[in-house]
Amino acid sequence: MRAMVQHAYGPPEVIVPQEIAKPSPGSKEVLIRVHAAKVGPSDVAFRKGEPMMIKLIYGWSRPKFPVGGTELAGVVEAVGQEVKSFKAGDRVLGMSVKNFGAYAEYKCLSEESPLAMIPDGIAFEEAVGICDGGATALTFLRDKAKLRKGHRVLINGASGAVGIYAVQLAKYYGAEVTGVCSAANGALVREAGADYIIDYSLEDFTKAGKAYDAAFDAVGTRSFAACRRALTPKGVYLTTAPKLSIVLQMVWTSLFPGRRAVFATAGLMQNQANLAFLMELARNGALNAVIDRSYPLELLPDAHQYVETGRKKGNVIVKL
Ligand SMILES: NC(=O)c1ccc[n+]([C@@H]2O[C@H](COP(=O)([O-])OP(=O)(O)OC[C@H]3O[C@@H](n4cnc5c(N)ncnc54)[C@H](OP(=O)(O)O)[C@@H]3O)[C@@H](O)[C@H]2O)c1
Repeated sequence: MRAMVQHAYGPPEVIVPQEIAKPSPGSKEVLIRVHAAKVGPSDVAFRKGEPMMIKLIYGWSRPKFPVGGTELAGVVEAVGQEVKSFKAGDRVLGMSVKNFGAYAEYKCLSEESPLAMIPDGIAFEEAVGICDGGATALTFLRDKAKLRKGHRVLINGASGAVGIYAVQLAKYYGAEVTGVCSAANGALVREAGADYIIDYSLEDFTKAGKAYDAAFDAVGTRSFAACRRALTPKGVYLTTAPKLSIVLQMVWTSLFPGRRAVFATAGLMQNQANLAFLMELARNGALNAVIDRSYPLELLPDAHQYVETGRKKGNVIVKL
């Protein structure tokens, strides 16, 4: 089968096309013919092997799993004899966070992995786009910030994949939403549902005198120290960026009442219920995919190059 592989860490050109063996499903696995997969900052980090922690976990001198990609959507082609919840022909959305493998024609996933049916009317690339960003935003806003009707929430980086779904989810939960983005992306973020827009090149939201119940730094460009000025007395600062400082602040602020700092490895915390919930929101129109660019699988290096600019809006997808 066709796949894009990388046998070394490095620039986008380390990803090359290769014919590899088609997998066959184990007794508790489903074999998926992949139609779409997402490309995001985490895929860029794995391709480069940076930060160093990635090499420690996924192979020091070269990647242990040469086929990258975590979020995928496609059609179930076959199932193992013990699989009960899925059957051949099902349109599914899945995540492969442990051993990747989305950038190939076929991928086997355990029946237990984050895997959900895609509703009729939702395209493969839309499903995978909503999962990229939507799943992370859901974990931060619903589970960590416990967002409720009437909460004031600020989303920093509202035009990125995490941010644009965070805006939509926050509206779904009945919050008043302020999106922080560039002027060029203001209309996109407003269309996603933001009540207020702050252009980060003109105004620093941490000094604007407004307090939020939750400030979600979806792009990880602002610190807790700065954002605490913009929180209500019991407000929470949430960030997607893994840093030692946020881990220490998280522990420290959990010991006392008052403003809290939260980081989560949301990408690793997904399950079938979350994916099914996102697909239900897509079906009823509460979540809409925002796809910036789609590339054919063979142009995966170009997709990486674009994602690495840090300027993408919503999702970048590769299609097979
Ligand atoms: N913790 C987790 O489990 C987890 C899960 C998923 C993702 N992440 C991380 O979350 C981060 C965001 O991912 P993503 O896919 O949403 O990123 P992304 O789509 O690549 O972010 C790009 C967007 O960020 C905007 N942006 C750039 N600098 C900004 C700034 N200073 N202020 C406000 N907006 C800015 C850009 O808009 P302009 O071009 O207009 O500036 C662009 O639209 C990444 O670091 C990713 O690794 C973490």
